[in-house]
Amino acid sequence: MSDLKKEIDDVSGVDTTGHEWDGIKELNTPMPRWWVYTFIVCCIWAFVYQFFYPSWPLISDYYKGYFAETNRDRLNDELGNVAQQRSVTLDKIRTMDLEDIRRDNALNTFALAGGKAAFGDNCAPCHGTGAAGFTGYPNLNDDDWLWGGTLEDIYTTISYGIRSTHEETRVNDMPAFLKDELLTKAEIEDVVTYAQSLSDRSIKATESGRVLFADNCALCHGEDGKGLREFGAPNLTDAITLYVTDRDSMIDIVSNSRKGVMPTWSGRLDEATIKSLAIYIHSLGGGE
Ligand code: HEC
Ligand code: HEC
Repeated sequence: MSDLKKEIDDVSGVDTTGHEWDGIKELNTPMPRWWVYTFIVCCIWAFVYQFFYPSWPLISDYYKGYFAETNRDRLNDELGNVAQQRSVTLDKIRTMDLEDIRRDNALNTFALAGGKAAFGDNCAPCHGTGAAGFTGYPNLNDDDWLWGGTLEDIYTTISYGIRSTHEETRVNDMPAFLKDELLTKAEIEDVVTYAQSLSDRSIKATESGRVLFADNCALCHGEDGKGLREFGAPNLTDAITLYVTDRDSMIDIVSNSRKGVMPTWSGRLDEATIKSLAIYIHSLGGGE
Protein backbone atom coordinates (compact mmCIF):
# COMPACT_ATOMS: atom_id res chain seq x y z
CA MET A 1 0.00 0.00 0.00
CA SER A 2 3.03 2.21 0.24
CA ASP A 3 2.87 3.17 -3.38
CA LEU A 4 -0.66 4.66 -3.13
CA LYS A 5 -0.62 7.74 -5.26
CA LYS A 6 -3.55 10.07 -4.58
CA GLU A 7 -4.17 12.58 -7.30
CA ILE A 8 -6.94 14.59 -8.95
CA ASP A 9 -8.51 12.74 -11.84
CA ASP A 10 -8.14 14.73 -15.03
CA VAL A 11 -11.48 13.83 -16.60
CA SER A 12 -13.90 14.17 -13.64
CA GLY A 13 -11.89 16.54 -11.43
CA VAL A 14 -12.52 14.18 -8.46
CA ASP A 15 -9.93 12.75 -6.01
CA THR A 16 -8.77 9.22 -6.67
CA THR A 17 -8.18 6.70 -3.88
CA GLY A 18 -4.74 5.89 -5.23
CA HIS A 19 -5.78 2.37 -6.21
CA GLU A 20 -4.90 1.54 -9.77
CA TRP A 21 -5.27 -1.67 -11.77
CA ASP A 22 -3.95 -1.91 -15.27
CA GLY A 23 -4.33 1.85 -15.68
CA ILE A 24 -7.88 1.92 -14.28
CA LYS A 25 -8.07 4.31 -11.34
CA GLU A 26 -10.64 4.31 -8.53
CA LEU A 27 -12.40 7.63 -7.88
CA ASN A 28 -12.95 8.65 -4.29
CA THR A 29 -16.57 9.79 -4.13
CA PRO A 30 -17.77 9.61 -0.50
CA MET A 31 -21.47 9.24 0.49
CA PRO A 32 -23.24 12.62 0.62
CA ARG A 33 -23.29 14.25 4.03
CA TRP A 34 -27.06 14.16 4.44
CA TRP A 35 -26.98 10.41 3.81
CA VAL A 36 -24.32 9.79 6.42
CA TYR A 37 -26.18 11.87 9.05
CA THR A 38 -29.44 10.10 8.31
CA PHE A 39 -27.65 6.80 8.67
CA ILE A 40 -26.23 7.75 12.07
CA VAL A 41 -29.61 8.98 13.26
CA CYS A 42 -31.15 5.67 12.19
CA CYS A 43 -28.54 3.73 14.10
CA ILE A 44 -29.24 5.72 17.26
CA TRP A 45 -32.96 5.31 16.73
CA ALA A 46 -32.62 1.53 16.31
CA PHE A 47 -30.47 1.31 19.43
CA VAL A 48 -33.08 3.12 21.55
CA TYR A 49 -35.99 1.37 19.84
CA GLN A 50 -34.80 -2.11 20.79
CA PHE A 51 -35.38 -1.37 24.49
CA PHE A 52 -38.93 -0.16 24.08
CA TYR A 53 -40.43 -2.45 21.48
CA PRO A 54 -40.38 -6.20 20.77
CA SER A 55 -36.91 -6.87 19.34
CA TRP A 56 -34.54 -9.69 20.23
CA PRO A 57 -35.36 -13.37 19.80
CA LEU A 58 -34.79 -15.36 23.00
CA ILE A 59 -34.58 -19.12 23.46
CA SER A 60 -38.29 -19.86 23.69
CA ASP A 61 -39.77 -16.38 23.51
CA TYR A 62 -38.74 -12.91 22.41
CA TYR A 63 -37.88 -9.67 24.19
CA LYS A 64 -41.24 -7.86 24.42
CA GLY A 65 -39.90 -4.35 24.98
CA TYR A 66 -40.66 -1.75 27.62
CA PHE A 67 -44.15 -1.07 26.20
CA ALA A 68 -44.84 -4.79 25.76
CA GLU A 69 -47.59 -4.06 23.27
CA THR A 70 -48.04 -5.04 19.65
CA ASN A 71 -50.51 -4.09 16.97
CA ARG A 72 -51.88 -7.58 17.27
CA ASP A 73 -52.67 -7.00 20.96
CA ARG A 74 -54.39 -3.76 20.08
CA LEU A 75 -56.40 -5.49 17.33
CA ASN A 76 -57.41 -8.24 19.73
CA ASP A 77 -58.56 -5.63 22.23
CA GLU A 78 -60.68 -3.93 19.61
CA LEU A 79 -62.13 -7.21 18.41
CA GLY A 80 -62.91 -8.09 22.01
CA ASN A 81 -64.87 -4.86 22.40
CA VAL A 82 -66.81 -5.45 19.21
CA ALA A 83 -67.58 -9.04 20.23
CA GLN A 84 -68.79 -7.85 23.60
CA GLN A 85 -71.09 -5.25 22.05
CA ARG A 86 -72.35 -7.90 19.63
CA SER A 87 -73.14 -10.34 22.39
CA VAL A 88 -75.05 -7.66 24.33
CA THR A 89 -77.12 -6.92 21.21
CA LEU A 90 -77.65 -10.62 20.49
CA ASP A 91 -78.81 -11.12 24.07
CA LYS A 92 -81.38 -8.38 23.61
CA ILE A 93 -82.61 -9.95 20.39
CA ARG A 94 -82.80 -13.34 22.08
CA THR A 95 -84.91 -12.12 24.97
CA MET A 96 -87.01 -9.32 23.52
CA ASP A 97 -90.38 -9.55 21.83
CA LEU A 98 -90.27 -9.58 18.00
CA GLU A 99 -92.43 -6.47 17.73
CA ASP A 100 -90.26 -4.60 20.24
CA ILE A 101 -87.10 -5.47 18.34
CA ARG A 102 -88.65 -4.17 15.15
CA ARG A 103 -89.61 -0.91 16.82
CA ASP A 104 -86.07 -0.35 18.16
CA ASN A 105 -84.15 1.26 15.32
CA ALA A 106 -80.68 0.01 16.25
CA LEU A 107 -81.81 -3.53 17.07
CA ASN A 108 -83.91 -3.69 13.93
CA THR A 109 -80.96 -2.68 11.74
CA PHE A 110 -78.76 -5.24 13.46
CA ALA A 111 -81.38 -7.98 13.05
CA LEU A 112 -81.94 -7.15 9.38
CA ALA A 113 -78.22 -7.43 8.63
CA GLY A 114 -77.90 -10.67 10.60
CA GLY A 115 -81.06 -12.08 9.01
CA LYS A 116 -79.85 -11.24 5.53
CA ALA A 117 -76.51 -12.98 6.11
CA ALA A 118 -78.16 -16.03 7.66
CA PHE A 119 -80.60 -16.16 4.76
CA GLY A 120 -77.77 -16.30 2.24
CA ASP A 121 -76.10 -19.10 4.19
CA ASN A 122 -79.12 -21.26 4.95
CA CYS A 123 -82.18 -20.42 2.92
CA ALA A 124 -81.02 -19.20 -0.49
CA PRO A 125 -80.45 -22.70 -1.92
CA CYS A 126 -84.20 -23.37 -1.72
CA HIS A 127 -85.78 -19.92 -1.76
CA GLY A 128 -83.30 -18.18 -4.10
CA THR A 129 -80.76 -15.46 -3.26
CA GLY A 130 -83.41 -12.78 -3.64
CA ALA A 131 -86.00 -14.93 -1.81
CA ALA A 132 -88.12 -15.00 -4.96
CA GLY A 133 -88.45 -18.78 -4.69
CA PHE A 134 -88.71 -21.52 -7.29
CA THR A 135 -91.44 -23.96 -8.26
CA GLY A 136 -92.47 -25.64 -5.00
CA TYR A 137 -90.40 -23.19 -2.94
CA PRO A 138 -92.50 -20.17 -2.12
CA ASN A 139 -91.58 -16.60 -2.95
CA LEU A 140 -91.01 -14.81 0.36
CA ASN A 141 -91.13 -11.28 -1.09
CA ASP A 142 -94.79 -11.18 -1.96
CA ASP A 143 -97.78 -10.80 0.32
CA ASP A 144 -99.11 -14.25 -0.48
CA TRP A 145 -98.53 -16.53 2.49
CA LEU A 146 -99.26 -20.20 2.87
CA TRP A 147 -98.94 -20.17 6.63
CA GLY A 148 -99.29 -16.47 7.46
CA GLY A 149 -97.11 -13.41 7.17
CA THR A 150 -97.05 -11.83 10.62
CA LEU A 151 -93.73 -11.76 12.46
CA GLU A 152 -95.02 -14.48 14.78
CA ASP A 153 -96.25 -16.67 11.89
CA ILE A 154 -92.96 -16.41 10.03
CA TYR A 155 -91.01 -17.06 13.22
CA THR A 156 -93.04 -20.23 13.84
CA THR A 157 -92.59 -21.44 10.26
CA ILE A 158 -88.82 -20.97 10.41
CA SER A 159 -88.46 -22.51 13.86
CA TYR A 160 -90.53 -25.64 13.32
CA GLY A 161 -90.60 -26.03 9.56
CA ILE A 162 -93.32 -27.46 7.36
CA ARG A 163 -93.76 -31.25 7.25
CA SER A 164 -90.39 -31.33 8.97
CA THR A 165 -88.94 -33.68 11.55
CA HIS A 166 -89.81 -31.33 14.44
CA GLU A 167 -92.69 -32.52 16.57
CA GLU A 168 -94.34 -29.09 16.46
CA THR A 169 -93.93 -28.79 12.71
CA ARG A 170 -96.61 -27.13 10.65
CA VAL A 171 -98.20 -30.00 8.82
CA ASN A 172 -101.08 -30.57 6.50
CA ASP A 173 -101.05 -33.01 3.67
CA MET A 174 -103.14 -32.54 0.62
CA PRO A 175 -104.42 -36.04 -0.21
CA ALA A 176 -103.20 -37.71 -3.39
CA PHE A 177 -106.71 -37.97 -4.79
CA LEU A 178 -105.93 -40.45 -7.58
CA LYS A 179 -103.23 -42.48 -5.85
CA ASP A 180 -105.34 -42.83 -2.71
CA GLU A 181 -108.39 -43.65 -4.87
CA LEU A 182 -110.48 -40.79 -3.51
CA LEU A 183 -111.47 -39.52 -6.94
CA THR A 184 -111.41 -41.00 -10.44
CA LYS A 185 -109.36 -39.52 -13.24
CA ALA A 186 -112.49 -38.04 -14.83
CA GLU A 187 -113.58 -36.45 -11.55
CA ILE A 188 -110.13 -34.93 -11.09
CA GLU A 189 -110.25 -33.38 -14.56
CA ASP A 190 -113.67 -32.02 -13.71
CA VAL A 191 -112.64 -30.50 -10.39
CA VAL A 192 -109.43 -29.06 -11.85
CA THR A 193 -111.48 -27.32 -14.50
CA TYR A 194 -113.48 -25.79 -11.68
CA ALA A 195 -110.33 -24.83 -9.80
CA GLN A 196 -108.95 -23.20 -12.95
CA SER A 197 -112.16 -21.29 -13.47
CA LEU A 198 -111.57 -19.62 -10.12
CA SER A 199 -108.65 -17.65 -11.49
CA ASP A 200 -109.52 -17.67 -15.19
CA ARG A 201 -112.98 -16.37 -15.98
CA SER A 202 -112.77 -17.63 -19.57
CA ILE A 203 -112.84 -21.24 -18.36
CA LYS A 204 -116.38 -22.56 -17.90
CA ALA A 205 -116.78 -24.85 -14.90
CA THR A 206 -119.39 -27.58 -14.63
CA GLU A 207 -121.86 -27.89 -11.77
CA SER A 208 -120.44 -31.34 -10.97
CA GLY A 209 -116.96 -29.77 -10.71
CA ARG A 210 -118.27 -27.20 -8.26
CA VAL A 211 -119.81 -29.91 -6.11
CA LEU A 212 -116.65 -32.02 -6.23
CA PHE A 213 -114.67 -28.97 -5.11
CA ALA A 214 -117.02 -28.17 -2.26
CA ASP A 215 -116.92 -31.81 -1.10
CA ASN A 216 -113.20 -32.51 -1.48
CA CYS A 217 -111.22 -29.32 -1.61
CA ALA A 218 -113.08 -26.56 0.23
CA LEU A 219 -112.10 -28.01 3.59
CA CYS A 220 -108.54 -26.78 3.04
CA HIS A 221 -108.70 -24.34 0.14
CA GLY A 222 -111.88 -22.65 1.34
CA GLU A 223 -115.37 -22.49 -0.25
CA ASP A 224 -114.17 -19.70 -2.51
CA GLY A 225 -110.78 -21.37 -3.22
CA LYS A 226 -108.91 -18.52 -1.56
CA GLY A 227 -106.95 -20.89 0.68
CA LEU A 228 -106.94 -21.33 4.43
CA ARG A 229 -103.93 -20.24 6.43
CA GLU A 230 -104.42 -22.68 9.28
CA PHE A 231 -103.98 -25.50 6.75
CA GLY A 232 -101.20 -23.90 4.72
CA ALA A 233 -103.38 -24.40 1.68
CA PRO A 234 -102.60 -22.07 -1.22
CA ASN A 235 -105.02 -19.57 -2.65
CA LEU A 236 -106.13 -21.08 -5.97
CA THR A 237 -107.79 -17.93 -7.26
CA ASP A 238 -104.77 -15.67 -7.64
CA ALA A 239 -101.91 -15.59 -10.10
CA ILE A 240 -99.35 -16.51 -7.45
CA THR A 241 -98.65 -20.21 -7.44
CA LEU A 242 -96.49 -22.51 -5.40
CA TYR A 243 -96.30 -25.06 -8.20
CA VAL A 244 -96.86 -24.53 -11.88
CA THR A 245 -100.56 -24.41 -12.53
CA ASP A 246 -101.00 -25.26 -16.12
CA ARG A 247 -103.76 -27.82 -16.46
CA ASP A 248 -101.50 -30.89 -16.62
CA SER A 249 -99.48 -29.90 -13.55
CA MET A 250 -102.65 -29.19 -11.61
CA ILE A 251 -104.05 -32.60 -12.52
CA ASP A 252 -100.75 -34.13 -11.42
CA ILE A 253 -100.73 -32.21 -8.12
CA VAL A 254 -104.31 -33.23 -7.33
CA SER A 255 -103.64 -36.81 -8.35
CA ASN A 256 -100.37 -37.33 -6.50
CA SER A 257 -99.99 -34.43 -4.03
CA ARG A 258 -96.62 -32.77 -3.49
CA LYS A 259 -95.86 -32.50 0.23
CA GLY A 260 -93.09 -29.94 -0.01
CA VAL A 261 -90.77 -29.96 2.99
CA MET A 262 -89.42 -26.87 4.72
CA PRO A 263 -86.79 -27.98 7.28
CA THR A 264 -86.97 -27.06 10.96
CA TRP A 265 -84.29 -24.59 12.10
CA SER A 266 -84.90 -24.73 15.82
CA GLY A 267 -81.76 -26.25 17.31
CA ARG A 268 -79.79 -25.77 14.09
CA LEU A 269 -79.79 -21.98 14.26
CA ASP A 270 -79.75 -20.12 17.56
CA GLU A 271 -82.74 -18.15 18.80
CA ALA A 272 -81.29 -14.73 17.91
CA THR A 273 -80.59 -15.85 14.34
CA ILE A 274 -84.09 -17.27 13.86
CA LYS A 275 -85.63 -14.06 15.16
CA SER A 276 -83.36 -11.99 12.90
CA LEU A 277 -84.45 -14.14 9.96
CA ALA A 278 -88.12 -13.62 10.80
CA ILE A 279 -87.58 -9.84 10.91
CA TYR A 280 -85.62 -9.93 7.66
CA ILE A 281 -88.24 -12.01 5.80
CA HIS A 282 -91.03 -9.87 7.22
CA SER A 283 -89.25 -6.77 5.87
CA LEU A 284 -88.99 -8.11 2.33
CA GLY A 285 -92.27 -6.54 1.36
CA GLY A 286 -95.04 -8.93 2.24
CA GLY A 287 -94.97 -8.67 6.03
CA GLU A 288 -98.34 -8.41 7.72
C1 HEC B 1 -84.66 -27.67 1.72
C2 HEC B 1 -85.29 -26.51 1.15
C3 HEC B 1 -85.60 -25.34 2.06
C4 HEC B 1 -84.73 -24.61 2.83
C5 HEC B 1 -83.24 -24.83 3.01
C6 HEC B 1 -85.51 -23.56 3.43
N1 HEC B 1 -86.82 -23.65 3.04
FE1 HEC B 1 -88.32 -22.40 3.58
N2 HEC B 1 -89.66 -23.54 2.56
C7 HEC B 1 -89.34 -24.65 1.79
C8 HEC B 1 -90.55 -25.20 1.21
C9 HEC B 1 -90.63 -26.41 0.29
C10 HEC B 1 -91.61 -24.39 1.67
C11 HEC B 1 -93.09 -24.56 1.33
C12 HEC B 1 -93.67 -25.72 2.07
C13 HEC B 1 -95.10 -25.96 1.65
O1 HEC B 1 -95.27 -26.57 0.61
O2 HEC B 1 -96.01 -25.55 2.40
C14 HEC B 1 -91.01 -23.37 2.51
C15 HEC B 1 -91.74 -22.38 3.16
C16 HEC B 1 -91.18 -21.33 3.88
C17 HEC B 1 -91.93 -20.28 4.53
C18 HEC B 1 -93.44 -20.15 4.55
C19 HEC B 1 -93.93 -19.30 3.42
C20 HEC B 1 -95.42 -19.10 3.46
O3 HEC B 1 -95.94 -18.70 2.41
O4 HEC B 1 -96.05 -19.29 4.52
C21 HEC B 1 -91.03 -19.44 5.12
C22 HEC B 1 -91.33 -18.16 5.89
C23 HEC B 1 -89.72 -19.98 4.86
N3 HEC B 1 -89.84 -21.14 4.12
C24 HEC B 1 -88.54 -19.43 5.31
C25 HEC B 1 -87.30 -20.06 5.22
C26 HEC B 1 -86.11 -19.57 5.86
C27 HEC B 1 -86.00 -18.29 6.67
C28 HEC B 1 -85.12 -20.47 5.58
C29 HEC B 1 -83.68 -20.45 6.04
C30 HEC B 1 -83.46 -20.48 7.46
C31 HEC B 1 -85.70 -21.51 4.76
N4 HEC B 1 -87.03 -21.22 4.57
C32 HEC B 1 -84.99 -22.60 4.27
C33 HEC B 1 -88.08 -25.18 1.58
C34 HEC B 1 -86.92 -24.73 2.20
C1 HEC C 1 -106.12 -31.57 3.52
C2 HEC C 1 -106.06 -30.28 2.93
C3 HEC C 1 -106.20 -30.18 1.41
C4 HEC C 1 -107.20 -30.67 0.63
C5 HEC C 1 -108.44 -31.47 1.07
C6 HEC C 1 -106.91 -30.25 -0.72
N1 HEC C 1 -105.76 -29.55 -0.76
FE1 HEC C 1 -104.86 -28.76 -2.40
N2 HEC C 1 -103.29 -28.19 -1.28
C7 HEC C 1 -103.19 -28.36 0.10
C8 HEC C 1 -101.87 -27.94 0.51
C9 HEC C 1 -101.34 -27.95 1.93
C10 HEC C 1 -101.19 -27.52 -0.64
C11 HEC C 1 -99.76 -27.04 -0.75
C12 HEC C 1 -99.03 -28.25 -1.27
C13 HEC C 1 -97.69 -28.53 -0.70
O1 HEC C 1 -97.07 -27.67 -0.08
O2 HEC C 1 -97.24 -29.68 -0.91
C14 HEC C 1 -102.13 -27.70 -1.75
C15 HEC C 1 -101.84 -27.38 -3.07
C16 HEC C 1 -102.73 -27.45 -4.11
C17 HEC C 1 -102.47 -27.00 -5.44
C18 HEC C 1 -101.21 -26.31 -5.93
C19 HEC C 1 -101.39 -24.82 -5.74
C20 HEC C 1 -100.21 -23.98 -6.13
O3 HEC C 1 -100.23 -22.78 -5.80
O4 HEC C 1 -99.28 -24.46 -6.75
C21 HEC C 1 -103.61 -27.22 -6.16
C22 HEC C 1 -103.84 -26.88 -7.62
C23 HEC C 1 -104.56 -27.84 -5.26
N3 HEC C 1 -103.99 -27.94 -4.02
C24 HEC C 1 -105.82 -28.21 -5.64
C25 HEC C 1 -106.67 -28.96 -4.82
C26 HEC C 1 -107.90 -29.53 -5.25
C27 HEC C 1 -108.49 -29.37 -6.64
C28 HEC C 1 -108.41 -30.20 -4.19
C29 HEC C 1 -109.67 -31.02 -4.14
C30 HEC C 1 -109.76 -32.10 -5.08
C31 HEC C 1 -107.48 -30.01 -3.08
N4 HEC C 1 -106.44 -29.27 -3.51
C32 HEC C 1 -107.69 -30.52 -1.82
C33 HEC C 1 -104.14 -28.85 0.95
C34 HEC C 1 -105.28 -29.47 0.54
